[in-house]
Amino acid sequence: MADKIAKLSIDGSDSEIELSMYSGSEGPDVIDVRPLTGQGYFTYDPGFVSTAACESKITYIDGEKGILLHAGYPIEQLAENSSYLETCYLLLNGELPTKDQLAAFVGTVKGHTMVHEQMHHFFQGFRRDAHPMAIMVSVVGALSAFYHDSLDINDAKHREVCAFRLIAKMPTIAAMCYKYSIGMPFQYPRNDLSYAENFLHMMFGNPCEEYVPNPILARAMDRIFLLHADHEQNASTSTVRLAGSSGANPFACIAAGVATLWGPAHGGANEAVLNMLEEIGDAKNIPEFIARAKDPEDNFRLMGFGHRVYRNFDPRANVMKTTCDEVLAELGIKDDPMLEIAKQLEQIALQDEYFVKRKLYPNVDFYSGIILKAIGIPSSMFTVIFALSRTIGWISHWAEFHSEPNKIGRPRQLYTGPSKRDYVECSDR
Ligand code: CMC
Repeated sequence: MADKIAKLSIDGSDSEIELSMYSGSEGPDVIDVRPLTGQGYFTYDPGFVSTAACESKITYIDGEKGILLHAGYPIEQLAENSSYLETCYLLLNGELPTKDQLAAFVGTVKGHTMVHEQMHHFFQGFRRDAHPMAIMVSVVGALSAFYHDSLDINDAKHREVCAFRLIAKMPTIAAMCYKYSIGMPFQYPRNDLSYAENFLHMMFGNPCEEYVPNPILARAMDRIFLLHADHEQNASTSTVRLAGSSGANPFACIAAGVATLWGPAHGGANEAVLNMLEEIGDAKNIPEFIARAKDPEDNFRLMGFGHRVYRNFDPRANVMKTTCDEVLAELGIKDDPMLEIAKQLEQIALQDEYFVKRKLYPNVDFYSGIILKAIGIPSSMFTVIFALSRTIGWISHWAEFHSEPNKIGRPRQLYTGPSKRDYVECSDR
């Protein structure tokens, strides 16, 4: 139902095109530009930064005010009081679960933690030095070859089964990527542990002794999962929705999300942060790197700073900073050179005019990289962990897309190539 009307006059013409406007429950009103196509016009919006590509009830972000809400609940409150699996329930169902609903949800997730035994052999095809994200993209895509009993995207029950399988199996797959790269045997999941504890067990346990998870590290891990769970229509989620719009199977869509997340401007940033800290190497080199970050002629950027949407602060970064302090205190890490560089960079960026003027604050990945390193997770696994966490966001958006009338995504373009011309024989060119 249109709330308001926008009128568009083209090139001073007397006749105006009337466009309906809609108001959401939060955020700016949107102008429905669909009638423009019938009038012979497209809208131009590279990067879709001004385009609402869908209607959604899952997550709301106000980048100016630093607000992130999942089904209305502020991320700070969820990080403080909820758990990753409870937040998964919220994202999938739109409401927080009752105690019984949560217990049933957790029980069902635990019932799906193992992967098909044949998948163990699938890993053997990769080189040991393959990047874990390269393995993850392939293994997630391959899930469709192993679990094809519930792939009717028009059946809500099938969509739910896919979501359970993904939430449950992603930690198992992520840990397998790591174990494979270091030549250690895969650890079967332990369903007596919590979701985060089980992940740490599969990462760091071995068949020779029982792994006892540290509760503070498990809590930090759970927070990292929770804080990355969803972020509305970001590049990877939009990719999953677009892939899903063709009717592709859910595991293939999630693999497309994993691939998109890998880029350093998106989920690859947490790994890039650690690589950058290593490249800086010593606090005395910081001024040189700050100068490079400010130099318009230099492509170098301070990884872990700035955000496409958050223009004042990243609410997830504030929570992550507290968790970072807890983890470092628990592990007694004080004199780590990487940490020293990170702390100095943080201070400089918060005070330096270049960063302050452009509102380039440390983002969630700046702190999550430091925490993961302290826990002992290699930087090549950071984006894998982001993918594991974000899977719930992807599958929730995919399920929302399929639960409503929908059509295949098909952006248009401003064509600036040659106009029609005739083929010239090779000998005449
Ligand atoms: N270091 C130095 N300068 C920067 C940085 C940075 N990290 N980020 C932006 N700028 C400058 C940029 O050069 C530009 O300067 P000027 O106005 O003089 O041309 C200005 O700030 C605005 O930059 P922009 O490119 O318009 O910003 P954007 O919104 O397109 O880019 C970003 C957002 C996240 C891609 C970018 O800030 C960046 O590359 N950051 C580093 C990578 C990173 O940490 N990414 C993780 C994002 S959080 C994870 C997630 O949610 O996916």
